[in-house]
Amino acid sequence: MTARSRSITSRQTGPHEDLPRRVARALTHPLRKPFAAHTREAFAEASDWRERRGTAPLILDAGCGVGLSTRRLAERFPDCSVLGVDRSADRLSRDHGRLPDNALLVRADLVDFWRLALDADWRPQRHYLLYPNPYPKAAHLKMRWQGHPVLPAILALGGRLELRSNWRIYVEEFALAVTQATGVAAATEPFAPGPDYLTPFEQKYHASGQALWRLVVELPHAPGLVPVG
Ligand SMILES: C[S@@+](CC[C@H](N)C(=O)[O-])C[C@H]1O[C@@H](n2cnc3c(N)ncnc32)[C@H](O)[C@@H]1O
Repeated sequence: MTARSRSITSRQTGPHEDLPRRVARALTHPLRKPFAAHTREAFAEASDWRERRGTAPLILDAGCGVGLSTRRLAERFPDCSVLGVDRSADRLSRDHGRLPDNALLVRADLVDFWRLALDADWRPQRHYLLYPNPYPKAAHLKMRWQGHPVLPAILALGGRLELRSNWRIYVEEFALAVTQATGVAAATEPFAPGPDYLTPFEQKYHASGQALWRLVVELPHAPGLVPVG
């Protein structure tokens, strides 16, 4: 990966005007997408692994890419079980060193995995969304997590949720969505990773001089956020 990385370009100059409607829709219309078989298998594997680890608190690294952040979080929080989830087998297969005993990487679609986790009453202590795909075209709002029908399940899991991005608007939109859905205030703040970057994308953006943004919010476990029907 090179140190030069282009910053996000988008016609949007602020949060998407359709965001409140998308969030309201996600809160009232059940997501009926069937669970993919490979994600069910990955969830079963992750559940067995968690059971073997006893009562260790869970840290979810959602969209972990090559799993560097999963490794680093596992080292930083040795008493926790750190689970990295990504849909890309290619990224997950890259060699980034031995996985600590308290870490596991699984290939799964988060749209299904989050809902399975909520159904199984998982309550992550920490939940990371590190540099999610920005989908900067205005027409792609529904592909960003804050505009996606799975948003209520992400928030309902609860815990300390941290989002990082090199696109300020992404984080601002997510903050608005959090507050609309949960009533909990969430602020966007500038973020400087220092030498201890958590992910390859973070390193790449930082090394090319881009500003980074994040949001950290403590959320209650609230399965009632997800519409049923
Ligand atoms: C821009 S990369 C960031 C990866 C990593 N967090 C980092 O910062 O280096 C976004 C990651 O999200 C993953 N991803 C996107 N949508 C996903 C989904 N529905 N389920 C699982 N992973 C997904 C992609 O495969 C990709 O690895």
